[in-house]
Amino acid sequence: MARRKKVYEGKAKILYEGPEPGTLVQYFKDDATAYNAQKKAVFEGKGVLNNRLSEFFMVGLAGIGVPTHFIKRINMREQLIRMVEIIPLEVVVRNFAAGSMSTRLGIPEGTALPRPIVEFYYKDDALNDPLVTEEHAVAFGWASQQDLDDIVGLALRVNDFLSGVMMGVGIRLVDFKIEIGRVWENDFPRLIIADEISPDSCRLWDIKTGQKLDKDVFRRDLGDLSDAYTEVARRLGVLPSNVTHATKPTLIN
Ligand code: TMP
Repeated sequence: MARRKKVYEGKAKILYEGPEPGTLVQYFKDDATAYNAQKKAVFEGKGVLNNRLSEFFMVGLAGIGVPTHFIKRINMREQLIRMVEIIPLEVVVRNFAAGSMSTRLGIPEGTALPRPIVEFYYKDDALNDPLVTEEHAVAFGWASQQDLDDIVGLALRVNDFLSGVMMGVGIRLVDFKIEIGRVWENDFPRLIIADEISPDSCRLWDIKTGQKLDKDVFRRDLGDLSDAYTEVARRLGVLPSNVTHATKPTLIN
């Protein structure tokens, strides 16, 4: 295979130059990090699952008219995506209190919020991705007010879609994070969903048991992350029901 130019390496993914201008290849690693990479581990098969799950969500979103960077899946760990200018904000939507919102505001985890709440975090590892307001984003030029209005609209559509899909398989979408990219079409800017949508960037709780099926399994040492993600993929029909683990080889006697 021809050598490819690495464009960027993050904690869970690598971006390579794509085959056409304006495209990239997104490679999903098995690495898991938490607390701004202070905690690290490798979970065999996680990258394969997230590649599949992100494809599943992005294709579903495109189906309801929400634009995304996803073009096609290439293989088990790679997908072809559109190159975008990433808006330097992590956009979090919350339906139930959990995580940093519970800590910050003293609201018990699992409390239903009166309406979905959209938050912005400035993407800066050195600052630990601080919570910021729209005022900060506009004043510091990270996004225009029009961008922010569009981003909130997109985030709420993603929330409705993901909540519905998850509810259909007995999973509560507690919260999630998305990233937004800008593309240029005939000199006009357009905002699209970028990065990934996977259990790495969502909180997913089983509706009946409350069992966590997301990266909190790793953050809070609750078990094997790949097993949790395999369960999400299995319920969504992304993996056949007889697959219990994504890639672990099994010895046949
Ligand atoms: P938080 O409760 O830690 O602020 O996280 C809210 C949601 O956003 C949760 O589903 C995890 C996700 N998230 C990420 O995917 N990446 C991040 O860097 C952060 C801070 C949150």
